[in-house]
Amino acid sequence: MSSKARVAVLGAGIMGSAVARNLLRAGLGVRVWSRTRSRAELLQRDGAQVAASPAEAAQGVDFLITLLPDASVIEEVVGKDVLASLASGGVWLQMSTVGIAGCERLRRIAAESGVAYVDAPVLGTRQPAEEGTLVVLASGPEELRERCRPIFEAIGSRTLWLGPAGMGSRLKLVTNNWIAGFLGALAETLALAEAIAVDPARFFEAIEGGPLDAPFARVKGRMMLERHFETSFSVRLALKDARLILEAAEAGGQRLKITEVVRSRYEEAIAMGHGEKDMSALFLAVAADRCRR
Ligand SMILES: NC(=O)c1ccc[n+]([C@@H]2O[C@H](COP(=O)([O-])OP(=O)(O)OC[C@H]3O[C@@H](n4cnc5c(N)ncnc54)[C@H](OP(=O)(O)O)[C@@H]3O)[C@@H](O)[C@H]2O)c1
Repeated sequence: MSSKARVAVLGAGIMGSAVARNLLRAGLGVRVWSRTRSRAELLQRDGAQVAASPAEAAQGVDFLITLLPDASVIEEVVGKDVLASLASGGVWLQMSTVGIAGCERLRRIAAESGVAYVDAPVLGTRQPAEEGTLVVLASGPEELRERCRPIFEAIGSRTLWLGPAGMGSRLKLVTNNWIAGFLGALAETLALAEAIAVDPARFFEAIEGGPLDAPFARVKGRMMLERHFETSFSVRLALKDARLILEAAEAGGQRLKITEVVRSRYEEAIAMGHGEKDMSALFLAVAADRCRR
């Protein structure tokens, strides 16, 4: 395999594919591994090399990027052989959303192998990922900032450096809690409109251009009203994040009742068979919950 690759991306899902493409566009050599090889092969025409195993992907690269569902999968995929394959001084940029405990577990695995670890979850979904406008919530050794800059600039419009590894994952939970509450309130607002014979278009007209308006509400609201849920971020992963938020909140001694309700709405949506649809399909669980009169 060519030694040109500087970056290995493990996981060619929605985020991993978009990140790999933007790294390639920035002129960086990229090797990709994904559990389903055909997903990695889709990146070949963009110039990516496809690896047969995670260790092969990591062979001699300066940066290892993980964009996989959760910490348990990452622990399975990133073994000692993978970390030992990196170039000397190689850095692991862990960009998946793994929560506080998950981040700490992965940081320890990196430390045991003597690999530098940057906790760098990202804010933004499919479209910002494709456009290279993610916000990177980076935390880790200060001296790695300059080295990481070309990678983060290729995939995002802003990078926040937040302190020791783990602070990025903490802020990611906070921002995702905002998203969860917002989405739940939006779904109930539109379900209420439909239930009391208000045209939802009137709701959007009423908030238009004012402080209550928000692009997120427009995008997700349209998906809810059209019952068309092309996936930017799946219900399955949104449930994973709600659980991570609640676990972290509990550890911090804070009860989050709104997030608990959103979590059960995601669970209901999954039980209805909507787990792989966009997170906005939580609306289907809300809309199906009609009380008897
Ligand atoms: N989508 C978003 O809007 C978004 C935004 C910010 C952060 N994130 C976070 O980024 C991470 C990736 O999200 P995504 O939306 O890109 O997910 P995704 O589209 O579902 O892709 C998941 C990737 O993980 C691989 N995978 C799944 N289960 C696996 C297993 N058991 N073993 C090995 N590989 C496995 C899949 O492999 P194959 O498909 O090749 O089988 C795929 O490459 C998650 O932590 C998510 O929370 C997502």
